[in-house]
Amino acid sequence: MSERDKYPAQSGRRRFVKGVVGGAALAGVGATGAATINSATQASGAGGGSTQAYAIENTAGPAPRGMPQIPVEIDDEGYLKGVWPEVKTEEQGGVSVQIAETEDFKGSGETYTTEWFQFCGVESYAGIEPDYDSENYFRSGSNPGYEWQSEAYSEGDRLHVDDFSDYQEWGNGVGDPGLGKPATGRWRSEDAEDTIPIQVIKSEQVMEMAEEDPWLEASTEDGFIAWLNKCTHFCCVPQYKSEGSAKFNAENDVYCQCHQSVYDPYSIVQTLFVARPRPSD
Ligand code: FES
Repeated sequence: MSERDKYPAQSGRRRFVKGVVGGAALAGVGATGAATINSATQASGAGGGSTQAYAIENTAGPAPRGMPQIPVEIDDEGYLKGVWPEVKTEEQGGVSVQIAETEDFKGSGETYTTEWFQFCGVESYAGIEPDYDSENYFRSGSNPGYEWQSEAYSEGDRLHVDDFSDYQEWGNGVGDPGLGKPATGRWRSEDAEDTIPIQVIKSEQVMEMAEEDPWLEASTEDGFIAWLNKCTHFCCVPQYKSEGSAKFNAENDVYCQCHQSVYDPYSIVQTLFVARPRPSD
């Protein structure tokens, strides 16, 4: 029995969404896409406009859409990184602007662009500039979301795969143990005024999803999945298996304590939204 099948109340939705991941997801996106595409033409500044991102699904609460995935890579020494797309220059409205975008990301056929992260003010963060100097490691923050992390890491340490080896048993007393082991952290934020918050999970479910989907095969590694951890509602920082989430049936999900939005990290969908332009220099 897979992990997913242990939760019959949710398994139907998960199976449905699983089927949706990939090309067919575009049909669902189209219904809400028309209005946003119209307003995209008004974007000014560098980059921005209508953007289609892969995201962990928003399943409840007021958030308008999921939170965008950050493709994961593991370096030769076992440290976790978020992939940054290729930096290039593009003509936009007669002006040359720098963007970061990879077409056909790792042979998935999908375009990965940093416009996925241009919302909630993140578009103005230094780390979102295409050529911001960073090694792209995920680093533990000063106030990690989990006790295990406070014990394993000091502030600024890089997340390492060995510290997730108990992912099939790990639990924090919230919801069911063994679904996946999470960490909170930051990305491309060293020496920057603003911190880009991220969350990572290692899970058997991610491995299973990656077997069936080219995008997830390309964007996850060894069961690790990551996303930009800014609630798409009003920009709070949610958390997987957080205190207080059980009251809202979110004890095995990602929960935003501000207005009770819930996200399912094991359901990846495509979302269409208008990315905010980066401020012009
Ligand atoms: S639900 Fe409102 S900011 Fe997250």
